[in-house]
Amino acid sequence: MAFPKDFLWGGATASYQIEGAAQEDGRGECVWHRFSHTPGKVENGDTGDVACDHYHRYREDVALMQQLGLNAYRFSISWPRVIPQGTGSTNPAGLDFYDRLVDALLKANIRPVVTLNHWDFPQALMGSGGWTNPDSVQWFADYADVMSRHLGDRVTYWITHNEPWVVAFVGYWMGRHAPGGNSLPGGLKAAHHMLLGHGAAVPVIRQNVRNAQAGITLDLHRYEPASDKEADIQAAIREEGVHHRWFLDPVFKGCYPADIVELMGENLDGIDLEAIKTAAVPIDFLGVNYYMRFLIADNPGFPPMHNRLVYNDDAEHTAMGWEIYPQGLILNLQKFNENYDLPDIYITENGAAFDDAPPQNDVVEDPRRVAYLEAHLNEVESAIEQGLPIKGYFVWSLLDNFEWSYGYGKRFGIIRVDYDTLKRTVKRSALYYKDRIAQASSG
Ligand code: FCB
Repeated sequence: MAFPKDFLWGGATASYQIEGAAQEDGRGECVWHRFSHTPGKVENGDTGDVACDHYHRYREDVALMQQLGLNAYRFSISWPRVIPQGTGSTNPAGLDFYDRLVDALLKANIRPVVTLNHWDFPQALMGSGGWTNPDSVQWFADYADVMSRHLGDRVTYWITHNEPWVVAFVGYWMGRHAPGGNSLPGGLKAAHHMLLGHGAAVPVIRQNVRNAQAGITLDLHRYEPASDKEADIQAAIREEGVHHRWFLDPVFKGCYPADIVELMGENLDGIDLEAIKTAAVPIDFLGVNYYMRFLIADNPGFPPMHNRLVYNDDAEHTAMGWEIYPQGLILNLQKFNENYDLPDIYITENGAAFDDAPPQNDVVEDPRRVAYLEAHLNEVESAIEQGLPIKGYFVWSLLDNFEWSYGYGKRFGIIRVDYDTLKRTVKRSALYYKDRIAQASSG
């Protein structure tokens, strides 16, 4: 039996995607509130105003986790719920919500794993440029201080950022996410400051939390060349460089990868590249979000990356159009293990959206999600057998939720949410996960 006894079996969510209560109890506005209320930004005009109403229904959700046998839950704190203006005074009602959630989890023997930045950045700080402002490093460290002081007596596991690549490149450059920017130099600045913020926040967390386990979560999908042509091979190296090495090298080596620095050229003007050495603080774990494979081809017409994605007609895809490629998880981890001195690894997200059928007899039959989870859990198991230090797995997601610019149309949950009644119904995949956890824990 590969899974160790103390393996963390969890579900993952994020504040803006599930909480709702967007304007309740003194919560400040976040960038996703502003973005989703801007016409044309999110499919169907969906917003996180109500979402899964987890803010009011967290007790029911904790009870569901307990029924499934989860021993860990990864959730995020809404920064403007606890510090409405992003800096300065805190909101007691907001802090109180996370107190109650953490207490309910501990009572159910479920370990809380907190993410500080899962994208719902305070809108009030956008007037000063958000993550493009060098002061954002200190804003984030101060917020980490508030939260780790407040919850540090009960929460051991802390994740600084979730997928900073997505915030920086999709949010500040391509504009498909909040805050809807359109500047590559802006995106690179945002990434830089998030990485420095990580470096500043980890020591603060350690100071406030006894036996802290602190880390960062990155989106680490599989990138492979679309053909064996040299130009495509080089294109895949560039693409992987921007997604993987641009973040892993700072975190583990304190420098940026030279080939990507060269590629980005003058887009990096104004960034003190040397300063990145402060991002390389010792961490206890790397959080890995893994969903899919991308095939990459050379595209001279798209500077500075000169790349394009190629859709793999021969493969199976999820409702997101994401190629299902379980073996990529292990291939990535083996590669990281060769290039970095890896700490513990948690798979902080893995899962799939499918067009589920409505419930029948109080269960949703979702065979494709069951197959997806089974295939990926098998990969995790063999990775552990090979000696890779994977200490936990978190399915994305516990609940169907607000899938960012796709709105509620894409369902990732192992528990269905009916958005008219907010009723929760388990899916077959949740019952499969429950069995797998029980099997691993009894072995
Ligand atoms: C990841 C995000 C998470 C969710 C999944 C499907 O990129 O971290 O919030 O949207 O994708």
